[in-house]
Amino acid sequence: MLSTPIHAGKLQLANRLVMPPLATENCTDGMVTENLITHYEKRAGKIGLIICEHAYIEAKGQASKGQLRLDHKADMDGLKELVKRVHVKGQTKIVQQISHCGDLSRVVKDRTPVNDLTLDDMKRIKQAFVEAALRVKEAGFDGVEVHAAHGYLLSQFYSPLTNQREDSYGSSPENRLRFILEVIADVRKAVGADYPLLVRFGGCDYKEGGSDKKDVPHSSKLIQETGCDLLDISGGLNGFLVKGAESDTFVELSQLAKQTVDIPVLVAGGIRGKEHMNELLAQGACDLIGYGRPLMKDVSEIDLLL
Ligand SMILES: Cc1cc2nc3c(=O)[nH]c(=O)nc-3n(C[C@H](O)[C@H](O)[C@H](O)COP(=O)(O)O)c2cc1C
Repeated sequence: MLSTPIHAGKLQLANRLVMPPLATENCTDGMVTENLITHYEKRAGKIGLIICEHAYIEAKGQASKGQLRLDHKADMDGLKELVKRVHVKGQTKIVQQISHCGDLSRVVKDRTPVNDLTLDDMKRIKQAFVEAALRVKEAGFDGVEVHAAHGYLLSQFYSPLTNQREDSYGSSPENRLRFILEVIADVRKAVGADYPLLVRFGGCDYKEGGSDKKDVPHSSKLIQETGCDLLDISGGLNGFLVKGAESDTFVELSQLAKQTVDIPVLVAGGIRGKEHMNELLAQGACDLIGYGRPLMKDVSEIDLLL
């Protein structure tokens, strides 16, 4: 199963093994470096899809110092070179993740919690997502992924622990999802119907009073209907780890999403071993498998799986 092709919208993948976004922090002032290119080039060839690490859409949304930038100062020549060098290695497709870290920045001083964002701020942020997505398309990537997980801005909107807004963006799960859907809709409109659009959705906070997995089926359906080609499900405010659930951490979320969506569902988080991956795919627990930390450490891991 792992070696079976699959498509998500117009994104044709040779197999179901995915390198999920893993920040290397290899950039200088957000510019593409040779180190960054080499890192991805080494992992390209056989694997179906690489999702390139989070890149910030505006200065206020920069998470960390070595992060890749996709704001108006993005290194377009560098990004084109990165895509080209991945593509010449073989069948691997490469998608770029775009992100706003909300008030989790380690570099920005004036951080704004979602509760204090004005409608004008939100309009500016949506526009920044759109422009970043257009840069991703222009650079030649095979698709774009909107980061709405791991406690970053869009995930902060979805979580009742960080979102206490009293307007139409707060309280019910549908209201807390509203801004995410608006970003997806605007990006879809800008990139066109055919350009692959992925969403990494933090479906549960794994914290008391946080977003609840029971809402995953409905929220996932709305995300699909808004224009998403592939749902990449992960954690919310908890990040990408859940204490005590080191294996198959978010498989329960992909199973819930699959109850309602008919786009492919990708899940990462402690999923190890070829046989086990094939089992999960055969059971229909997910459609693609993300394999992160081992692949970050050791490129030869791919040969053990494909
Ligand atoms: C060093 C590191 C950097 C990461 N960077 C990102 C990122 O840029 N964007 C993202 O959505 N997830 C990021 N993640 C989460 C991974 O994509 C993945 O969900 C996580 O490593 C769990 O999968 P695994 O057990 O196969 O490693 C990162 C994880 C690690 C360890």
